[in-house]
Amino acid sequence: VRLVEEDDDSQDGLSRRDFLRGSAAAGVLGMGLIAGEIEAAEKSSAPAGAGGEVAGPGAVPLRFRINGDLREARLEPRATLLDALRGAFDLTGAKEVCDRGACGACTVLLGGKAVYACGVLAIEVQGRPIQTIEGLGRPDKPHPLQAAFAEHDAGQCGLCIPGFVMATRGLLDRNPDPGPAEVRQGLAGNLCRCGNYDDIQQAVLAAAAAGEPEGRRRRPRD
Ligand code: FES
Ligand code: FES
Repeated sequence: VRLVEEDDDSQDGLSRRDFLRGSAAAGVLGMGLIAGEIEAAEKSSAPAGAGGEVAGPGAVPLRFRINGDLREARLEPRATLLDALRGAFDLTGAKEVCDRGACGACTVLLGGKAVYACGVLAIEVQGRPIQTIEGLGRPDKPHPLQAAFAEHDAGQCGLCIPGFVMATRGLLDRNPDPGPAEVRQGLAGNLCRCGNYDDIQQAVLAAAAAGEPEGRRRRPRD
């Protein structure tokens, strides 16, 4: 899982520097806004922050692309993506456990890459493709990755599992044929307090062997 890499300034990655810069900017702007500016920002119907304009500190309209759907909500600029998913859209699959980028329970895909939703400002990911566990499968029609986790008893309390499944999705999209060491490394940003790592690894290897995701087949090994 990438919270972020220090030197990654690409479109698809949100660097820790960007996150800190955004947080600092939200704080500074919040202190500097006068009443009229606050009122103007709150009245605006355009997606806030899209053109680098002042936004907040009160709730502003934000637009997202979540699981292929356009979604809108009014949120304070300091809200994280996890706040938006759970609080505004009732997408509670991403769990709030540490809320500080340390456990991976809130992992979602942003532009196809696994990120900690608690470590990303919602206002900065407007318009970018976000995928959550709810976009993968449903209880009555689980995605093969979810089925593999269930089949291998990968979850005990289950709290970490949505994050692991999304991190696995990101891993297999990058590397459809990982070995055990690559699985451990690829999922190193996700913690399981129940210590169920062996079953989780078996589930991931089984899903990869079955050609998930997207029906890709594993290369024959020598
Ligand atoms: S809740 Fe986001 S990393 Fe732990
Ligand atoms: S199954 Fe309980 S934290 Fe992982």
